[in-house]
This record gives sequence, structure tokens and C-alpha cells, in this order.
Amino acid sequence: MVTQTKTLGEFIIENQEYFKYSSGELSRLINSIRLAAKVVNHEVNKAGLVDIIGAAGDTNIQGEHQQKLDVYANTKFIQTMTKRNIVCGIASEEEDDFIAVNSQDENHQNKYVVLIDPLDGSSNIDVNVSVGTIFSIYRRVTPVGTPVTIADFLQKGNQQVAAGYIVYGTSTMLVYTTGHGVNGFTLNPAIGTFYLSHPDMQFPEDGKIYSVNEGNYIHFPQGIKNYIKYCQMEEGDRPYTSRYIGSLVSDFHRNMIKGGIYLYPKSSKMYEGKLRLLYECNPLAYIAEQANGKASDGFTRILDIEPTELHQRVPFICGSKNMVEKAEEFMKDA
Ligand code: AHG
Ligand code: MN
Ligand code: MN
Ligand code: MN
Repeated sequence: MVTQTKTLGEFIIENQEYFKYSSGELSRLINSIRLAAKVVNHEVNKAGLVDIIGAAGDTNIQGEHQQKLDVYANTKFIQTMTKRNIVCGIASEEEDDFIAVNSQDENHQNKYVVLIDPLDGSSNIDVNVSVGTIFSIYRRVTPVGTPVTIADFLQKGNQQVAAGYIVYGTSTMLVYTTGHGVNGFTLNPAIGTFYLSHPDMQFPEDGKIYSVNEGNYIHFPQGIKNYIKYCQMEEGDRPYTSRYIGSLVSDFHRNMIKGGIYLYPKSSKMYEGKLRLLYECNPLAYIAEQANGKASDGFTRILDIEPTELHQRVPFICGSKNMVEKAEEFMKDA
């Protein structure tokens, strides 16, 4: 049996010196995400017993039907971060606009904004399949002590100071980076503590798994169609194995551990793709690069894309470096 003794709380304190501006603010912020994750985890695990499965009855700005757990997780994460007064702004997949925290108080000195997908994979809640949370943290670009503006949120992914995700799966894990590698922590539910279980996580350079919703094949660009055919071809270590959970966090997590590629291309039905640049693609791209992986829209590095709006969607190809580069070749040649 593997015994892990270092807790997430201890790890955060030990690594505080890495932070460029070490006031402890970022540590407190990650701590509050850790707390909200435990609360949401508790609720996710009760789905089926309490009235938390099914639709909430509303539609979010993305045009998606919100699930009860989408709303619950959104509320819990926002409440935890605002009540503790450690951020100056929050943007969420489930909110129409960004939230300025403490904008009335001219003395507030908070420097960080958080962008969040509170519940990723919501179509999997009712069927007892893994879901997740994704978060992304930036330093504000407007002056401290003034209300945040849209400019604080529309920063390129390469400006992130931290990013992470929680996967509520066979076990609950919190995985994050502050730009010094990627570390994974597993929750011991009996005592409510995350322990360092996956230090220095790395994507294998190559992999044998491809993850894509092939039901949309007919609508994909030719380069993606050609790459999928390449994955299925009998040659060398191919055909690859197809694995698609439909929860981005879980698909990403599996591919990081085993080696693989995730693709959500644009299609003739979704011209920009489906996944959200600020809440999904940028944080996972940052984690991927920190773990020796790669993320692109087929042509451009995800982290270099200039965001133009809060809920912007982009095509997303992410995973083991050699696999992503191969997919990019197919895009270029098509
Ligand atoms: P969310 O539940 O946050 O709206 O995200 C859904 C995303 C992502 O989790 C998943 O990989 C993808 O949508 C699945 O889309 P398809 O059902 O179109 O394959
Ligand atoms: Mn959604
Ligand atoms: Mn999502
Ligand atoms: Mn979501």
C-alpha cells in the first residue's frame, strides 16, 4: 500500500516561496478553492439520494440547459471566494457577465481574478459518470483598489499565474500548477484531506489513445477527418484506442496519465468549436504545457490566442506532444 503523508495544505505553504509576489494571497485563494471543492464533492457524491440530479430549468448564456449541480457548484465556488474576500473578480461559465468583488470598497487590495467552469461534464451527472471543475487564475491588469474591468479577464492564457481542476471520479482529485510543474492530490473522504498522490505529473511524449466525439465526424474539417483515419490505420503502434467520456476534465486527466490526444474541433455545426477558451481551454492548456504536453487550436498555441469575449469558444487539440504535432501536420496539409 502506498502511504502519502504530505497534505495539500502543507504543500501550498512549502511552495509559497515559488510565487513571484509572495504575499500569501495566492495561497489563500487556492486554499479556498480546496474548501469549495470538498463541499461540491460532498454534494456530487449524494446525487441520486438528494434532489440534485436533473435540470435546473434555466438556460445559461451559452444556450445550455443548466443542471441543478451546475447551479449548485457555481454558487458554492463563488460564495467561498467572495465571502473570504480574496479575489477582486470572478467570471464563470454559468454567469452572463463577470462579477466584481467588493467593488464598493476602495480599500480592497486583492490582486487576483478567477475564471471557472464550476461543473464540467454536466451531461454525465445523472448517469453516475465522472464530472469535474476547472479554474484559471490571473493577476489583474487594472490598478488595485479600483473595480475590475473586462480587461482583467480577457488576458491571454500565457499570463495565467495558476490553473487547476478537480475530478470527482472513482476518487476525488485536485490537480494544479502555479508554473512549476503539475501536482495531483487525492481526497481521503474519511477525514476530508487532500494528500499529494501524483507529484510532478507528466504527459508521456507519445500515446495510444484518441478522444473525440466521432458522432460529429461528418461535420469535421478535412484535416481532422484525415487525422482520425490515421489513428485508425493499421500501421506501427496503430490503430489507437478510442476513449471518450464526454467530461473534458476526465478525458484530459486520463490522457495525461496514460498518454493520448483530445480533440474538440470546429465543425460545420459549431463554427468556433464548443469548448470555452477562458474556462476550459486556457487552464487545461497551461496544465498540459507544464506537464510536457501541448495544446493548440490546430494551428495556433492555445495560450497565445488573444481573447475577445468572455464566453468565446475555440477548437481544442490537447495532449501528448508528438500526437498533437501530428494532428497539426494533418491540419496544415488538408
Ligand atoms: P460543460 O458541462 O461544462 O458545459 O462542458 C461540456 C463539455 C465538456 O465537458 C465535454 O468534453 C464536452 O462538452 C462534450 O461535448 P459533446 O457532448 O458535444 O461531445
Ligand atoms: Mn455547461
Ligand atoms: Mn465544461
Ligand atoms: Mn460547466
